[in-house]
This record gives sequence, structure tokens and C-alpha cells, in this order.
Amino acid sequence: MEVKKGFVLGAGIMGTGIAQLMAQKGIDVTLSDVDQSIVERSLQNIEKGLQRRVDKGKMTEDQVKDILGRITPSQGVKDAAQADFVVEAIIEDVKIKQDTFDELESVVKEGVILASNTTACSISEISSKAKDPGRIVGMHFFNPAVVMKLVEIMPGLATRPEVVDQTREFTEFLGKEPVVTAKEGIAGIASRVLAALLNEAVWVLEEGIGTVEDIDKALKMGSNQPMGPLELIDLIGIDTHLAKTRTLYNKLGDARYRPCYLLEKMVHAGYLGRKSKKGFYDYTGETPVPMRIK
Ligand SMILES: NC(=O)c1ccc[n+]([C@@H]2O[C@H](COP(=O)([O-])OP(=O)(O)OC[C@H]3O[C@@H](n4cnc5c(N)ncnc54)[C@H](O)[C@@H]3O)[C@@H](O)[C@H]2O)c1
Repeated sequence: MEVKKGFVLGAGIMGTGIAQLMAQKGIDVTLSDVDQSIVERSLQNIEKGLQRRVDKGKMTEDQVKDILGRITPSQGVKDAAQADFVVEAIIEDVKIKQDTFDELESVVKEGVILASNTTACSISEISSKAKDPGRIVGMHFFNPAVVMKLVEIMPGLATRPEVVDQTREFTEFLGKEPVVTAKEGIAGIASRVLAALLNEAVWVLEEGIGTVEDIDKALKMGSNQPMGPLELIDLIGIDTHLAKTRTLYNKLGDARYRPCYLLEKMVHAGYLGRKSKKGFYDYTGETPVPMRIK
């Protein structure tokens, strides 16, 4: 399968990274969202990130121009019609994803793979209303998508084996290491294991056992994690992390995933982590400052 044109829906943290990655690999990619202004902002973020690489001598101005020139902003799903491969990276909500796949199916070419970057929504559930559920597959990039090596490929009950194989090939073409789950499980492997750890860190904070900085320091220094669990939740997005743990708790009924009310309170207050500049840390200044969360 040759992918010349890609379509990425959702220009948030993940969609932006996935579109940049495709463009860096020479694919013409359309990046779309509910509103084109969101995509314009994402393109500015990509440009800023690439400019930092130019400043460090790791990339040339011409390369930046090439990469940016391969990303076309759009709105809605209409431009998926030209795509050879589609990645959905919208909000983590199974009903909205179902409706979105319905819309995508009505415009895309026959046989084109529709991949979802979902963390914890069931692929079988997302594709349950689709005309051709066999072409829908989970393709879970990790954050930041340009940097992290792993992509977990998660088939649903109806996903065709050749769709899994072609998604694996495409993953390798993008320079990533695929892990294919043997069957659908909620949140695959890495995110499921990590969710329990991240959740526990929030409970330790809620119980007043450690401060934000001490919890992150303990995990970094005590288990050689490159970043602390609370820093990581801020990077993921507190709303996204909450949606994922809620799904795991609802589907598995396991107390390891019971989301702490503190997370809900933070989302209500608009503390979504890095993307809103406030979470467990305050990102408004030069360096992140731990928040006094109660
Ligand atoms: N953040 C992470 O670390 C991470 C890692 C792996 C996978 N994921 C998954 O990737 C997906 C996106 O997460 P994110 O962190 O990029 O979220 P985000 O909040 O940064 O961005 C979501 C984007 O989707 C857009 N959107 C919402 N509904 C839409 C619709 N109907 N059509 C088009 N666009 C729509 C929003 O406007 C927003 O720009 C989620 O399913 C999430 O679970 C997230």
C-alpha cells in the first residue's frame, strides 16, 4: 500500500504531531478540525518547533518550508475524499467518534483504511455502526507523536487481518515500532499499564502524602522514569487522562482505575495541563512551577 496523501482529523496535541510526522516522511497531508482556525494555530506550533531545530542546526530553513508546504489545513471531513490513509485523532468520546467515522465513510475512497488514535475507546464499538467495520483499526501513537517510537495497533473484532498488516507496514514507513495487540483490550498495553500508575500518583497527591514536586521527584529518582507521573498527565492532557481512566474503570470495574475526583475538579476549572498552561504545574512562565493543588 502506497500512501501519497494522508488525512488527519483533529488538530489537537496528537493530530498535530501525526500530521507533522507524515509530512516529514514526504506525505501530503491534510490536517482538519471542527474549525480551520484551530488548524492554523497547530501549524504555527509545528513551525515554532521546527524553527527550534533550525536554531540548533539540526534542520535547514528549506526543510522546514518543505514540511510545512506538505500540510494543508482544512475543516470537517470533506477533504478525506482524496486520502489514501485516514487517522482520526479527535476528542476521546466514543459516541462522537462513531458519528465521525460515519461521516468519514461517506466521503472516503473504497478500501481506504480508517485508523483511530483512540487511547481507550473500543474499536469494536467505534466501528459498530460502520458500513465496512473491517477497515477500521486502532493506531495508537504516543505523545509526542514525532518523537515516541511506539505505535500500538489495536484491531477490533471486525478488523480485517490485511488492514492490520497494511497499518503495520505504514507504521514502519513512518519510522515507528509497531506492537500489534493480539485482540482488543481496553487501552491496549502501554496506556493500560501506565494508567494505573498515573492514577495512583493522583491518589497519593489527594491523600496529602506528597507534594506535586515530591511525587514526580520520587518516581524520577526512584524508578528512573524520564518524567514524573504528574508532569506526564499534564503532557497527556488532564481531560484526556480522565476520559481514559473513566473508560478503564467502567469497562474493567477495577479500583486501580477509579478516577480521583481531583481530576474532575481540575477539568471543571479549565486546568487541562500543558495545553491550557495550567495543570499540576503552571506553564505560564519560563519554567513550569508546581501548583498547590487541593
Ligand atoms: N494526549 C495524549 O497524550 C494522547 C496520546 C495517545 C492518544 N491520544 C488520543 O488521541 C485523541 C486526541 O487526543 P489529543 O490529546 O490530541 O486531544 P486534544 O484535546 O489536544 O485535541 C482534540 C481535537 O479534536 C478536535 N475535535 C473534537 N471533535 C471533533 C470533530 N467532531 N471533528 C474534528 N475535530 C474534532 C478538537 O477541536 C481538538 O482540536 C484522543 O482519542 C486521545 O485519547 C492522546
